[in-house]
Amino acid sequence: MAQNGSGRKKRGKPNILITGTPGTGKTTTASALSESTQFRHINIGDLVKEKNLHDGWDDQFDCYLINEDLVCDELEDLMEEGGNIVDYHGGDFFPERWFDRVVVLQTENSVLYDRLTKRGYTGQKLTNNIECEIFQVLLEEAKESYPEEIVVAVRSNTIDDINRNVATLTDWVRSWSCLP
Ligand SMILES: Nc1ncnc2c1ncn2[C@@H]1O[C@H](COP(=O)(O)OP(=O)(O)OP(=O)(O)O)[C@@H](O)[C@H]1O
Ligand SMILES: [Mg+2]
Repeated sequence: MAQNGSGRKKRGKPNILITGTPGTGKTTTASALSESTQFRHINIGDLVKEKNLHDGWDDQFDCYLINEDLVCDELEDLMEEGGNIVDYHGGDFFPERWFDRVVVLQTENSVLYDRLTKRGYTGQKLTNNIECEIFQVLLEEAKESYPEEIVVAVRSNTIDDINRNVATLTDWVRSWSCLP
């Protein structure tokens, strides 16, 4: 496999990480992008449940305690192949070399607040997620974990935003295969 400018292995097809605070639209965006590109949509939360890649239930955070090593082992071959859209509210434990684009979805606080309350989030869980968005935790994490030039932050307040983000990423995927 050839190496590109950043030293990454040039795959036949790129891998994209879609990240952001819960409720910012990762799964909606990733499934639409998967339809337009025919890339594989990997929802890490679902994968962890289906394949038991966790160390039990975390009562404090009300979610599975993800086993990061098991997740990385499970995905290594697929990521090497390329053509994956990974959907997760985190990304600092994936190998840096896996991704060619890291997209951080961002939603205005009041909009996110409404989405999360509609889902039944209340109290500390709601506050934690809103604060996560206010402090741009996922964007900071992405910038620390991946080369700056592959990280993009995009707005995800409306359906129009989703459509535009999917169109832009689809164009990027098309042009990627033509790059040297
Ligand atoms: N940009 C948007 N415009 C309008 N509605 C949106 C937008 N993004 C997400 N939604 C709505 O918000 C809800 C949450 O979206 P989604 O499940 O895609 O978020 P998520 O980031 O995958 O959340 P989680 O991290 O919990 O999996 C859905 O009902 C979805 O329709
Ligand atoms: Mg989701």
